[in-house]
Amino acid sequence: SPHFNFKQGVLHAEGVPLTLLADEFGTPLYVYSRQALNDAWQSYADAAAGRNVLVCFGMKANSNLAVLNEFRKLGAGFDIVSGGELARVMAVGADPAKIVFSGVGKQAWEMRAALDAGVKCFNVESEPELERLAQVAAEMGKVAPVSLRVNPDVDAQTHPYISTGLKENKFGIAIQDAPAVYARASAMPSLKVVGLDCHIGSQITQVSPYLDALDKLLVLVRTLQSQGIAIEHLDLGGGIGIRYTDETLLSPSALLNQVYARLHQEQLSDLQIVLEPGRSLVGNAGVLLTRVEYLKHTEARNFAIVDAAMNDLLRPTLYDAWHDVEPVQQPAESAQAQTYDVVGPICESGDWLAKARTLALKQGDLLAIMSAGAYAFTMASQYNTRPRPAEVMVDGTAFHVVRPREALADLFASERTL
Ligand code: LLP
Repeated sequence: SPHFNFKQGVLHAEGVPLTLLADEFGTPLYVYSRQALNDAWQSYADAAAGRNVLVCFGMKANSNLAVLNEFRKLGAGFDIVSGGELARVMAVGADPAKIVFSGVGKQAWEMRAALDAGVKCFNVESEPELERLAQVAAEMGKVAPVSLRVNPDVDAQTHPYISTGLKENKFGIAIQDAPAVYARASAMPSLKVVGLDCHIGSQITQVSPYLDALDKLLVLVRTLQSQGIAIEHLDLGGGIGIRYTDETLLSPSALLNQVYARLHQEQLSDLQIVLEPGRSLVGNAGVLLTRVEYLKHTEARNFAIVDAAMNDLLRPTLYDAWHDVEPVQQPAESAQAQTYDVVGPICESGDWLAKARTLALKQGDLLAIMSAGAYAFTMASQYNTRPRPAEVMVDGTAFHVVRPREALADLFASERTL
């Protein structure tokens, strides 16, 4: 990202040296660039210009209130997956008419909260969920806006753990079953069919899986029209990938240009298009700062033991994910590079952040784990009774703590002995 750059040998976030933030707030520390968030948003806004497109930030990627508020001010809607996310995003004053509610396991209280708020749409993922939603809405005297999330059975060509549009996955309603479920939905007085939804996976770098899914959805739209069921919007989910290392990139405009080419062919360009990007709006807008506690040279490996761990950034452990590691201060030319595994202090062999990296290190060095703006803090835990890191947002030469480091006492303050 152009907003994380070396100046005079020191890695900066915008105009702020990361050494300064580490000294001020300690490590591990998440640092976000406000301008990077704005730029990422702008690439969607440019792609959407002149088109009826609603971009709903997949807030599970980064749900810090400061991040949500930036996107709200920029005009974003939000894709939520829980009552908790609804409460968070309402806390920054989001417009409920731009909120879509996804997820396979919505509970009745979550449905009630979303109906009370007046969300744009429920992305319904099964028939039992449809029945429950109809009942909850009827009890409240409301009509729930509904989209069915269909499973188009396409291969997103990404990591199996984050691929969601195959028939083996738990997500969505099999596309061949959708017409019958839509018929059922449109017959229920407490439901109103408004859309059609899919989400095929994450960290997608090619347009073809989207177009494969789109083609199947468009056939379904026609089928529904012939059943007298009109769709107002088509939600293509999230999934656009980011560059962690050398991935080729799919841009929002490349995706939307191709989508609209297909819509025009089918004379369906009146449909509103909804997107639910998460990672691509925040992933490269954040880094995780960590300090080298010890260097440990064993017969088999060199370890850099740092103060961040799998509880702070789970992606390497969980997905074998690659995050670039940058020394915040460029080492002297004379410094000897070695091959290191960068590992945390947690008592698990799976506790690693990077493997086999060529780095010239000494104890006390500051490292930046790059591309840590998405699925990073939001997946953090307190395992080993480690407080979750502080989060800081940089804005030019200014910086703001947007979440202080958790205090040790708070970690167990609400617990009771017998
Ligand atoms: N919409 C739905 C229904 C989703 O399930 C997701 C992500 C998104 C939108 C946003 O997808 P994105 O644009 O971020 O690809 N923790 C994993 C990623 C899990 C994605 C889950 N669903 C990771 O760290 O790679």
